[in-house]
Amino acid sequence: MTRAALITGISGGIGAALGAAFKAAGYRVIGTGRKPAGGDICDAFVEADLNRIAGDDAALDVFAKAVRNALDGAELTVLINNAAAQILAPVDGLTMDAWRRTMNVNLTAPFRLVQTFLPELEAARGCVINIGSVHAQATKPEFAAYATSKAALHGLTRALAVDLGARVRVTCLAPAAIATPMLMAGFEGREAAFQELEACHPLNRIGAPEEAAQAAVFLASPAAAFATGTTFYLDGGVLSRLHDPV
Ligand SMILES: NC(=O)c1ccc[n+]([C@@H]2O[C@H](COP(=O)([O-])OP(=O)(O)OC[C@H]3O[C@@H](n4cnc5c(N)ncnc54)[C@H](OP(=O)(O)O)[C@@H]3O)[C@@H](O)[C@H]2O)c1
Repeated sequence: MTRAALITGISGGIGAALGAAFKAAGYRVIGTGRKPAGGDICDAFVEADLNRIAGDDAALDVFAKAVRNALDGAELTVLINNAAAQILAPVDGLTMDAWRRTMNVNLTAPFRLVQTFLPELEAARGCVINIGSVHAQATKPEFAAYATSKAALHGLTRALAVDLGARVRVTCLAPAAIATPMLMAGFEGREAAFQELEACHPLNRIGAPEEAAQAAVFLASPAAAFATGTTFYLDGGVLSRLHDPV
């Protein structure tokens, strides 16, 4: 039977690479997002606002039915919680709306999707991959909402793994800076700043979306059958290095 992967945030920089990699690995890819993904990134697209789905059971039901239709007979084997909201603001300027939206999209929606698709994932002896971040461990000013949500997502990965045991494997992939089109656009005309970012990483470069996608393909594969509850840091060594002056 054909295996299927449900990937949230399919239109994003890493989402598109995940779509391509899982398609190349033979999966039927069901992508989601607020606006349709361009090109042939996925085999089927289901529109969803995860901010809404996190707190609205009726909307979640409609979404789940649409995903089940989109499977078209394939077996849901992998759920990748990849979508994220990243709203930057200093602590004294962070609105409660921004805080709630971040937690809804980055934490509550992933949990609700696991609950919703648990029967399919269990029947397929499948797995969940949460896309975390180095911000779960070390962060920067103005990242309070995002960093907290990612730390909680890493914690959720462990809790789900312990609770679900052998039913469904749950892992987390935590990248450092990845050269998505959006990240690269932010450095346009700022070559020195980009080189500084690269130099923070012991490997002296940032990651590629395809590298993140290949790591996810590995975590979903039988080669990772003994991995659950674990977080794989794809960080070019940045978290291993102190950044105070020599
Ligand atoms: N790029 C990096 O350097 C980096 C580093 C570490 C971790 N990560 C993590 O990697 C994942 C992907 O990041 P990315 O760089 O590819 O981000 P991105 O290009 O900004 O894409 C984010 C995706 O999330 C979706 N999304 C945002 N809010 C949503 C909502 N309310 N409902 C449904 N979908 C929503 C967006 O889709 P729509 O706009 O269509 O809704 C978009 O496809 C995220 O979890 C991020 O935290 C990225």
